[in-house]
Amino acid sequence: MSQFETPLFTGLVEHAKKNPVQFHIPGHKKGTGIDPEFREFIGDNALSIDLINIGPLDDLHSPKGIIKQAQELAAEAFGADHTFFSVQGTSGAIMTMVMTVCGPGDKIIVPRNVHKSVMSAIVFSGAIPVFIHPEIDENLGISHGITTESVARALDQHPDAKGVLVINPTYFGISADLRKIVEIAHSYDVPVLVDEAHGVHIHFHDDLPLSAMQAGADMAATSVHKLGGSMTQSSILNVREGLVSSKRVQSILSMLTTTSTSYLLLASLDVARKRLATEGRDLISKTISLAQSMRKRINEIDRLYCVGPEILKSKAAFDYDPTKLIISVKNLGIPGYEVEKWLRERHNIEVELSDLYNILCIVTPGDTEREADILINALRELAEECVEEAGKPEPLKVFLPDIPLLALTPRDAFYSETEVVPFEESEGRITAEFIMVYPPGIPIFIPGEIITKENLLYIQKNLEVGLPVQGPEDDQIKKIRVIKEYKAIK
Ligand SMILES: Cc1ncc(COP(=O)(O)O)c(C=O)c1O
Repeated sequence: MSQFETPLFTGLVEHAKKNPVQFHIPGHKKGTGIDPEFREFIGDNALSIDLINIGPLDDLHSPKGIIKQAQELAAEAFGADHTFFSVQGTSGAIMTMVMTVCGPGDKIIVPRNVHKSVMSAIVFSGAIPVFIHPEIDENLGISHGITTESVARALDQHPDAKGVLVINPTYFGISADLRKIVEIAHSYDVPVLVDEAHGVHIHFHDDLPLSAMQAGADMAATSVHKLGGSMTQSSILNVREGLVSSKRVQSILSMLTTTSTSYLLLASLDVARKRLATEGRDLISKTISLAQSMRKRINEIDRLYCVGPEILKSKAAFDYDPTKLIISVKNLGIPGYEVEKWLRERHNIEVELSDLYNILCIVTPGDTEREADILINALRELAEECVEEAGKPEPLKVFLPDIPLLALTPRDAFYSETEVVPFEESEGRITAEFIMVYPPGIPIFIPGEIITKENLLYIQKNLEVGLPVQGPEDDQIKKIRVIKEYKAIK
């Protein structure tokens, strides 16, 4: 089959055209049984292919027909031995990777700034995390990737680890020397699992960092929906045979996946793969040049800094993705979240994320000069307004707390006897909950870590500026669940 074909999407459309009499789920039956207002809005075409795993349409859990063909085309496009479609986002694919290589008590080497899905998989599998400290960027107030030296040290101390997990590229588009990391891990026969949530496009352009499969990694969980043009929630899991078995991957993915897989999501993966494989290079070239020109114009605005190739001087930044615009706003004297709100309220602009010191904007083939001008004019206006109001705005001081110490395995902590204590009285206790700001969803605390004053202060700072702190059962974050302590009875 050729990369111009879309067996899954085409198969669905052909099936819908036959207009069969449906006595199967979904009960809305081509939209006739759905709320009319929603039907009118979403359109009959979409509803006609919202189908289920009946005979002619194959089954994601045991693909033999059009889904198998679509997955094979994707494997060819991504240079993988096998590609699995995920309707549980990259989170589902990441959990599958971790649970494929780790069982209870097995060690896995992971950077501490992983997405919460990695930690969830560690709790579910009972694996023991060996954390690597990511490189901290004191200027931007964000974590980058991990160095090859730290991976070598971790493997030297834990040669029995069942896997090394790398985030490549990071949410902010910074990548590590993945080829070297793979080389080191493979010299110990340890597989490399890549969280490629933010890197579906990098495989299709030479001016972008190496993709997981190009670097020789064993598995990669890749969000096609984030930057590759498929629908939200649809991702892929690429596998290279050798240190991992694709049969095991299929059965774990199946255990973690709904039996009612959305064919709209699956079909969108099929068409996104076609576009990336056949037009990706040209589309991405245009995106890179648009983003580069935006970067240059943003850097001309007083007190704003948009990260560029100079970031490569840092040890953990081996390469970077220029389509990500990390805009440091700390010199305006206001937090990134204020900038996010200002852009929303004053110019109807929505950014990808903000934190205490930055905003992140992503540029994709969906953008044009028009959107670029809107953003840059708004940022110029904001910078002028900040200077007018404050005279000489005082730059914000970057504060990033240390990584807390782990006292219990995340699973032991999660399933321990616990109690709830007031947030401000929790210093020194062992947390039983995750706490993170989402996005980016990187935990500030994971179950099993010792709560420090510094980290409580950091959470407080995030809450004060209004950033979305999540995780604890108490969504007001007034209380936190910790491991129960037993005091001697007097
Ligand atoms: C680094 C990273 N990994 C994994 C994920 C999970 O991806 P998904 O939302 O497709 O489940 C995200 C989502 O934001 C992420 O930022």
